[in-house]
Amino acid sequence: MKETHPRTIKIFDTTLRDGEQSPGASMNIEEKLRLATQLQKLNVDVIEAGFPIASEGDFEAVRRIAETIKGPQIAGLCRAGFKDIDRAWEALKSAQERARIHTFIATSDIHMKYKLKMSPAEVLDAAVKGVKRARSYTSNVEFSCEDAVRTDLKFLAEVVEAVIDAGAGVVNIPDTVGYTIPNEYFNIIKYLKDNVKNIEDAVISVHCHNDLGLAVANSIAAVQAGAGQVECTINGIGERAGNCSLEEFVMALRTRGDILPFKTNIVTEQLTPASRLLTNITGLVVQPNKAIVGANAFAHEAGIHQHGMLMDQSTYEIMTPESVGLKGGALVLGKHSGRHAFKKRLEELGYELSEENLNKAFTRFKALADLKKEVFDEDLDAIVADEVMRLDDKFKLSNITVTCGSFAVATATVQMEIDGEQVRTAELGDGPVDATFKAIRKLTSMDERLVQYNVGSITGGSDAQGEVSVRLAGGARTVVGRGSSTDIIEASAKAYINALNRLHLATFRDVEPL
Ligand code: KIV
Ligand code: ZN
Repeated sequence: MKETHPRTIKIFDTTLRDGEQSPGASMNIEEKLRLATQLQKLNVDVIEAGFPIASEGDFEAVRRIAETIKGPQIAGLCRAGFKDIDRAWEALKSAQERARIHTFIATSDIHMKYKLKMSPAEVLDAAVKGVKRARSYTSNVEFSCEDAVRTDLKFLAEVVEAVIDAGAGVVNIPDTVGYTIPNEYFNIIKYLKDNVKNIEDAVISVHCHNDLGLAVANSIAAVQAGAGQVECTINGIGERAGNCSLEEFVMALRTRGDILPFKTNIVTEQLTPASRLLTNITGLVVQPNKAIVGANAFAHEAGIHQHGMLMDQSTYEIMTPESVGLKGGALVLGKHSGRHAFKKRLEELGYELSEENLNKAFTRFKALADLKKEVFDEDLDAIVADEVMRLDDKFKLSNITVTCGSFAVATATVQMEIDGEQVRTAELGDGPVDATFKAIRKLTSMDERLVQYNVGSITGGSDAQGEVSVRLAGGARTVVGRGSSTDIIEASAKAYINALNRLHLATFRDVEPL
């Protein structure tokens, strides 16, 4: 049947759970709270805050978010075992009627045979028991058939019907491995709509991974087939190639309302601030050509395009930068800008800072403005990342002096504060960065491996701030650290130390199969 009135599609954001499973995307609790506050401004319907049984850090993050964030529902993920479900409820319960238990078990032959080592009947039984256990705590229960796309369709329908009977109000049909294509996914959702007799008692949710680059297209196809909730992440981060990108999905519906009769509750002007904040927290930079939030998404390079744009924006622009919260005017502040202008611009960029953090950031801004004539938005992002997105750091850089040149052996003398104590050492190296990293390693004695080192400039000009990102691996964890400064060696030292702090705090999700 052709839909005419726009149907509202619920947005279930899983940046803090599936998104955090991206290598290098781990966030600490304060960072998760900061992002959850932005998701609240974005007006997502559900925030999946974590996987409470997977680690103490996850549990605490879900608990704090459930306690603090008002508006969206707060979901916690759990396998369909009682211990998981009880733990999830423990973390979620302060959100009361907004708390959602999201429980799952795999239903595909491959997963049942190799991972779960359970028969289909055992899986069905565990799913029903899990949903009933969750219902003993709350009426807000979502059930996911993990690897639904590779599940035998008849069995999938059987599980869906049974969990709805058991009390699940949302049934999720994930494309866990990013395998499906739009037409096939449409048919799976349609099949469930046509063959599950109680399907109208639940909302169908979809959850697409992006292994073939089709997560957004598949989610749109599923909505056309009748799905009512889409699970997605900011900047599309997530396991492997990531999840359906929230901003792309939302803007596709908004831009193509002519043929897609759906809407969402998202405040689209908050998309760019959300994307920026996530990048700033995790250090995972968005590719410049990424749709909606990439640096080039609204840049028109070719002369013929620029000419068209001057005549009428609609010639080459299918949505306005303002509609996604991109505020014009690249040059923002300079040496004479006051605290008020500084605060206002930060707010426009989506940063609402406490008085204390604002003072720290303003001091750094003044120092930068003395070195640099023009301070751009990107500089402000870097200042916030450097001065505010830092928490009780174990390791801090106090001073660094480097000597190098075509004849001299590069030497770095590094002074750091470690747990409040000043320590200093000097090292030689193959160039100034190598010497610096060696000195830091000697002072910190962590067990890490440098995986990647990238250096770029935040803006143009020879007085630009250099921005360094460093990826470190420690055991099974990978973290990204970032640092910026007009001195590239200092930026490198800050990035390395930032990564070490993240490694030190990183919690690792470690769950045994059911
Ligand atoms: O990809 C997946 O199947 C998941 C589920 C746990 C919902 O993330
Ligand atoms: Zn997933």
